[in-house]
Amino acid sequence: MLEIQNLSIDYRGTLALHNVSFFVPAGQLVGIIGPNGAGKSTLVEAILNLVPVTQGVIRFKGISLKRQLLKTAYVPQRSYIDWDYPVTVWNVVMMAQTVQTGLFNKFSRQAKHLARTALERVGMYELRHRPIGELSGGQQQRVFLARALAKEAELLIFDEPFTAVDRKTEDIIFDVFQELRAAGKTLLVINHDLGDSLAIYDQLLLLNKRLIAQGTRHEVVTSDNLERAYGRGLTRVFA
Ligand SMILES: Nc1ncnc2c1ncn2[C@@H]1O[C@H](COP(=O)(O)OP(=O)(O)OP(=O)(O)O)[C@@H](O)[C@H]1O
Ligand SMILES: [Mg+2]
Repeated sequence: MLEIQNLSIDYRGTLALHNVSFFVPAGQLVGIIGPNGAGKSTLVEAILNLVPVTQGVIRFKGISLKRQLLKTAYVPQRSYIDWDYPVTVWNVVMMAQTVQTGLFNKFSRQAKHLARTALERVGMYELRHRPIGELSGGQQQRVFLARALAKEAELLIFDEPFTAVDRKTEDIIFDVFQELRAAGKTLLVINHDLGDSLAIYDQLLLLNKRLIAQGTRHEVVTSDNLERAYGRGLTRVFA
């Protein structure tokens, strides 16, 4: 369903991704792992048309993904978000839908209903009038999850959603992922941790500028692959 062919990204001389190709069937929860600077964020940004593609093809359901970006939802890495931006929880979630409903209809009943349901799902409806900057990290992460839910996207992309969140938030995120998968959605999740958290994924992509390995956790997290991606030292701990 999601098909990446020979994707290369060059940031004016810095090669971030080289010839990456993979295929993800619909309804899968896919984990993306690899060291700092491996090109994980760059990969998802390219998929979302946020960085220019130097070479390669990105298709969703056989059609260029660029032409159907409304079907995607994205929760960026925490460090990418401007938390001082003066906007309430409610508006963060409603904003996800303005593109689809058009500016003049943006407060349509349907949009409000979706926003409310999504905020309730992540336990953040009570705090809907709060400025986003006044929430804890885990609460902010849940608001962005609600925003992705309200968009009713088919392809959902999360950049390190489990970083710096407590157990409660982790459980909510995890349960929502399972529900989305059961509903046939496709999820790409960048995961920094190499431990047991990887058990939730249907398949893993191990990156270090190139695609080092793709497959089940068992196939991907081997000492050979980890050494190729991270260098020596990690293999004894995880593989
Ligand atoms: N906007 C940019 N301009 C120039 N180079 C960039 C830009 N964004 C990323 N890079 C470079 O591209 C490479 C891949 O970066 P990327 O952020 O995709 O890695 P990552 O795997 O997400 O790392 P991390 O685990 O630290 O989040 C790095 O060498 C980085 O310095
Ligand atoms: Mg990153």
